[in-house]
Amino acid sequence: LSRATSPFLLDPSRDEGQPIYLQLYRTLRSAILDGTLAAGSRLPSTRVVATESGIARKTAEEAYAALEREGFVVRRHGSGSFVASVSPTSPKARLRGERRISRRARATAGSAACVEPQVVRPFAAGLPALDQFPLELWRRTVARCARRFDVGSMVYGDPAGLPALREAVASYLASSRGVRCDASRVVIVSSAQQGLDLAARLLIDPGDEVWCEDPSYYGTRAALTAAGASIVPVGVDEEGIDVTAAIRLAPRARAAFVTPSNHYPLGMTLSLSRRLALLEWARRHDSWIVEDDYDGEFRYDGRPLAAIQSIDTDSRVIYIGTFTKTLFPSLRLAYLVVPPDLVESFVNIRTQIDGHPNTFMQTVVAEFLTSGQFVSHIRRMRTLYHARRDLLVDSLRRNLGGRVELSLCDAGLRLTVFTSGSDRLLARRASERGLDVLPLSRLYAGSAKRNGLVLGYAGLTPEQITFGVEQLRKVLA
Ligand SMILES: Cc1ncc(COP(=O)(O)O)c(C=O)c1O
Repeated sequence: LSRATSPFLLDPSRDEGQPIYLQLYRTLRSAILDGTLAAGSRLPSTRVVATESGIARKTAEEAYAALEREGFVVRRHGSGSFVASVSPTSPKARLRGERRISRRARATAGSAACVEPQVVRPFAAGLPALDQFPLELWRRTVARCARRFDVGSMVYGDPAGLPALREAVASYLASSRGVRCDASRVVIVSSAQQGLDLAARLLIDPGDEVWCEDPSYYGTRAALTAAGASIVPVGVDEEGIDVTAAIRLAPRARAAFVTPSNHYPLGMTLSLSRRLALLEWARRHDSWIVEDDYDGEFRYDGRPLAAIQSIDTDSRVIYIGTFTKTLFPSLRLAYLVVPPDLVESFVNIRTQIDGHPNTFMQTVVAEFLTSGQFVSHIRRMRTLYHARRDLLVDSLRRNLGGRVELSLCDAGLRLTVFTSGSDRLLARRASERGLDVLPLSRLYAGSAKRNGLVLGYAGLTPEQITFGVEQLRKVLA
């Protein structure tokens, strides 16, 4: 039996609680259902299966007989056993595109582009320090809110978000990010990703040109692709997105999707002159600016520039913020600040997706914000991430020596190490050593790609950072 027929190579000790014939039967049945064993293909004889798997021939016979009884296998005297055509559209066949799905979906559904890290491994990008989260305080807040939970808490909520949370977010944004808004302009959503998707649905028609930083966050490109946008990749330099180049490339673009506080993933801050140029362009061409402020809270060197939204006098900016980095990712809560005349449309489209985010968790977060715990948590995390950033930079410089070129890392939860070799290959090698690194080249839409590895550090303990760099040294050696 070859590797290709491995479903037959049963390890009889695998599942001691089950009769062996049943294990073999189940393994083969799922291989047939998922298309691993294609309809019409010939199964090895029970004699071969028995010998190779070290089981009795009678046991293999029993499994084959059960498969035949249920119509998964056809046995022909003298010529052998064959896979019946039970499922002409097995999941594998579906993945090969043999079933019809929409063209729109085909452009986006083929890749798992927006799956985020589910395990804290070095250097999973974008995770906050879950090991330092004030869990006890959080649990007490949850418990307090749970005690107030009553019949009235079970109806549908306001699709724009829980009023108390909208108020709390508006006052937090005004004091900490300079964002100009009142609660009526805040829309609570499930994630920044949902914010990007809503903005794309609302602002973009299929075929519209949209400026996108190059490189950029994969979630941004996914949302734009789903909306049918024609993405115009615009290069970034030390001042952020090159607005002059963008105007040359596509002066009449419908929108610009940008990360001005901390470019994803290279870490530049969009300069004030470029912010003004962007606003002026948007005003002149009746275009929009989508400001993804996904981790603007965490700046370590220099003073943060206020959000573009705060200097927008023409209501051109849709501002997006998220609790993924400031609290934790599984919470799934984020917020938009939208121009007053767009609030109703944003909220209506939002109701067409899933109504509104879970009301109970909105209550908990509102309480966390109004009690002052949120701001003090952010302050503590800023100090912690600063130290973790310093540790990673020092450790990279010490271990990788002269070879190492780093992106800017004055802010945020990650940095990028530029590499000369193929970053995809390096990322695969890193993965074999237990690391989770993101190849920089994957984040480009245009052809001028650089190679590098995006390394998250904020969510890693000092030990994980040291271990990770040690492994990385071996990968890059
Ligand atoms: C640039 C950028 N935008 C948006 C997000 C998504 O945040 P959320 O978890 O709220 O969807 C991330 C997450 O890593 C990000 O890096």
